[in-house]
Amino acid sequence: MCGIVGYIGHRNAYPVVIKGLKRLEYRGYDSAGVALLNGGLKVHKKKGKVADLEEATLGKNLDGNVGIGHTRWATHGEPSDRNSHPHVSNNGELAMIHNGIIENYASIKQELINNGYQFHSDTDTEVLLNFIEDIKINNQCTLEEALRIALRRIVGAYCILLIDQNDPETIIAARKGSPLVIGIGKGEHFLASDASPIIEYTKEVVYVNDYEIAIVKADELILKNLGNEKQTPFITKLDMELAHIEKGGYDHFMLKEIFEQPQTIYDCLRGRLLPEHDEIVMRGIDNHIDSFLKASRIVMVGCGTSWHAALIAEYIFEELCRIPVEVEYASEFRYRNPVINEGDVIIAISQSGETADTLVALESAKEKGAFIFGVVNAVGSSIARLSHAGAYTHAGPEIGVASTKAFTGQLAALTMMALKIGYKKGTLNQERYTQLVRELYAVPEKVKEILTDTSHIKKIAEKYASASDFLFLGRGYNFPVALEGALKLKEISYIHAEGYPAAEMKHGPIALVEETLPVVFVATHDSYYEKIVSNVQEIKARKGKVIAVATEGDQQISHMADDVMFVPACDEIIAPLLSVIPLQLLSYYAGVAKELDVDKPRNLAKSVTVE
Ligand code: AGP
Ligand code: GLU
Repeated sequence: MCGIVGYIGHRNAYPVVIKGLKRLEYRGYDSAGVALLNGGLKVHKKKGKVADLEEATLGKNLDGNVGIGHTRWATHGEPSDRNSHPHVSNNGELAMIHNGIIENYASIKQELINNGYQFHSDTDTEVLLNFIEDIKINNQCTLEEALRIALRRIVGAYCILLIDQNDPETIIAARKGSPLVIGIGKGEHFLASDASPIIEYTKEVVYVNDYEIAIVKADELILKNLGNEKQTPFITKLDMELAHIEKGGYDHFMLKEIFEQPQTIYDCLRGRLLPEHDEIVMRGIDNHIDSFLKASRIVMVGCGTSWHAALIAEYIFEELCRIPVEVEYASEFRYRNPVINEGDVIIAISQSGETADTLVALESAKEKGAFIFGVVNAVGSSIARLSHAGAYTHAGPEIGVASTKAFTGQLAALTMMALKIGYKKGTLNQERYTQLVRELYAVPEKVKEILTDTSHIKKIAEKYASASDFLFLGRGYNFPVALEGALKLKEISYIHAEGYPAAEMKHGPIALVEETLPVVFVATHDSYYEKIVSNVQEIKARKGKVIAVATEGDQQISHMADDVMFVPACDEIIAPLLSVIPLQLLSYYAGVAKELDVDKPRNLAKSVTVE
């Protein structure tokens, strides 16, 4: 989903494209490449940073007034030189870059292989490119027409730039689901995933819409829909500063990533959760289903927020699959001499896929014969490659050090896994399975509802930002959410916070309760609700300040609490996907109120690759 840059005009394209890719580095990526048109196609691409690409092109002929460039965040095929973009079609005439995912690439690839096509990468992008070439040749039509036919056949998200060595005056672009902006210059055009590579050249831009194709020449821009009807380009004037644009108009990456969650949860479910067929398709599970059905226990391993995801998954898996689950801090698991039996299933959870404690814990478990399943965000990362199978969370690059969208992506993937395994095992009946599949499918819209107006959460955060301590309490599925809320507050606002099972208060921590202590209850409607009402009363009786995450329409806790953050009603198994959102925002706004660097909190690294 990462970065796209294109240029056509009177300048030398290479410097414009390379500088543009650097402007997009903030989006996170694993490889980069450029293609230049100058009497023929010249492609330079490699795994690594844009600077590595520049080094690799030293001394090469980099002339040409037409160029396209790409920073890749791998989804199909691990990060490598061969999987980097641009890709070149079989006949060597077309080059293409692509942001997004082509979901039905496998069937199209098989068709092309049957027709004699050869592939030099593992990517879905190369399949789309050769599909376009195949259509162009077989239909004897223009590249634009071939692209239109291909785009009507594929399923998925794309922003693509396509160049043809037989037409050095044109760049063809198209988008659906992945952004594309075109900058209007004098005798030149700039194309990019967002305005940051464009703004220094022009502030006049066209935001291309879904299902539109752009035919871009140095002095002409034509927009058409997939029905080949011309669309009027709507030119807007950029009024943002560059720094602001990099964050998509948000003040911080963390806020941007919190607000991306309706989309990233949808991306995690897409192509896997099929309510219309009452089905969940997860190749990593399907191909190893016996390992799960025969497992005498599941051990879940992770660190930090990923460990909290494991705790929630423990409740879900035991409820739906009736398989004993143990959750381990990776750092502890790797140092003690754990009992690992052949046939044990280890589920490793990691956003970065590079956390040293988790990685080494897996290496020792694998040596002892355990089956390793990775729930990872970074495609082709060390943990992904070490696992026997896995499920990517497809949350896209997470730039903010505090994990937000990756966490809900983990929960979505783990919940799908438990539903699938429980249903297959017969420990989850048809009615409950169907109900939960639909509940999970409805989550992106419910998250969007929570994010519609967050001003009241901002006010609550500002009201308590001067507190020196917080308690976060929850029960059942919401207990690990309380732990996650406490971690978020600690790492973003530097306020000390502790998470506890709400019932645990009476075993000591209630001694802390006084008027200056804010206590956050994660108290959505569930089978523990009446119990947690009593816990709230215990705190109120001691003059503690209560902030509640409650279900919309709640009539009890919301009236007892000093402040309330509502979330839509949902099944208790699904609740963490919703109840965590207000806590992410609470920590974000508290950090902002204290004027802290919420994207890069002190002492923290995004990926802890040291032990
Ligand atoms: C989360 O907000 C923290 N930044 C941190 O706890 C993180 O979850 C932990 O380091 C594990 O990282 P991973 O998911 O990349 O393995
Ligand atoms: N799905 C394509 C690939 O894996 C594009 C990924 C991206 O958006 O960077 O190469």
